[in-house]
Amino acid sequence: MNQLGAGIAITGVGSAKPETVLDNHHLSQMVETSDEWIQTRTGIRQRRLLDAQGSLSEMASAAAHKAMAMAGLSPVNLDLIILATSTADDLFGSACQIQASLGASNAVAFDLTAACSGFVFGMVTAAQFIRTGVYRNVLLIGADVLSRWVDWSDRCTCVLFGDGAGAVVMQANQQDRLLGFEIRSDGNQNGSLKLAYDARTQEIVKGVTVSRGCYQPITMNGKEVYRFAVQKVPEVIDKALFWANLTTDQVDWLVLHQANQRILDAVAQRLKIPSEKVLTNLSNYGNTSAASIPLVLDEGVQQGKIKPGDIIAASGFGAGLTWGSAIFQWGR
Ligand code: ACO
Repeated sequence: MNQLGAGIAITGVGSAKPETVLDNHHLSQMVETSDEWIQTRTGIRQRRLLDAQGSLSEMASAAAHKAMAMAGLSPVNLDLIILATSTADDLFGSACQIQASLGASNAVAFDLTAACSGFVFGMVTAAQFIRTGVYRNVLLIGADVLSRWVDWSDRCTCVLFGDGAGAVVMQANQQDRLLGFEIRSDGNQNGSLKLAYDARTQEIVKGVTVSRGCYQPITMNGKEVYRFAVQKVPEVIDKALFWANLTTDQVDWLVLHQANQRILDAVAQRLKIPSEKVLTNLSNYGNTSAASIPLVLDEGVQQGKIKPGDIIAASGFGAGLTWGSAIFQWGR
């Protein structure tokens, strides 16, 4: 038992991906690019896209079912559902729709927005409720459908993103498996990565104007985001490891937000973590934002790479700018 309160274990993981595959050859028919350019600069080969009939809530619910089955937990026993997303079906949030579709009648549900850091921020948020003894069983979902917000004529961004959902179950536990964390943000760099609201003036009665606008597609300064990630991610992992009283050589798996293979390689190199310990599935899914960490975690567990007790250093980074790391052991 942690000195501060209840310990925490991550007891289940699951994921869901859309059926439709868009590979780099498709993209080269849409914009001036090539499979070779995309693979060399990003490591991405293909991505999955949600079709117009699909919803984020359905995809997230499918991932949630699998995570709960692995944890052996029934939806009625959930106390809290956190949906980390930037692309809710409804601007008021989608967590309650997921609660309804799961039949999690005793849970409270809300959305959390921290872009590609959403999953790590969600994990830390969930931990506060468990540590304080308020809740015992939490479902954390990371899900995004960035394809809805990509400018498909902008070759600088459209090659990067894909859609997906992943979920974990976090439970109060005798042994504390959440060993350390650190989360950060810097609004001064907000302009580097935006999905901005474009306000248009509407006069609703003489002299009274409100804005009636819409969100604009993703804009990004790729070089700045790259520089930020390569500098800040190793720092925040080091800090989280410090809180966990661990060193990098004790890490079994580095589970980074899957943004770009070059970022993954550079971070691992700075931390002196060998590439065999770096989990990656970016070539198949691209950058799935809040979903990318649970997607690759699920794959690692399903493939039998991640074993109970393994020490995982996870880190998310993205718009805000936001970044964070959580160090945890897999299983009870
Ligand atoms: N195909 C061909 N050429 C391209 C493409 C493309 N898809 N995209 C850009 N180019 C061109 C540019 O126009 C530029 O041409 P120019 O020299 O004639 O102006 C040239 O390639 C070089 O562009 P750079 O932006 O310098 O390319 P870079 O090597 O930096 O790679 C990339 C771009 C892949 C976006 C890189 O900067 C990167 O990965 N940045 C981090 C982005 C990221 O991870 N974002 C997401 C994190 S946050 C979140 O997850 C929401």
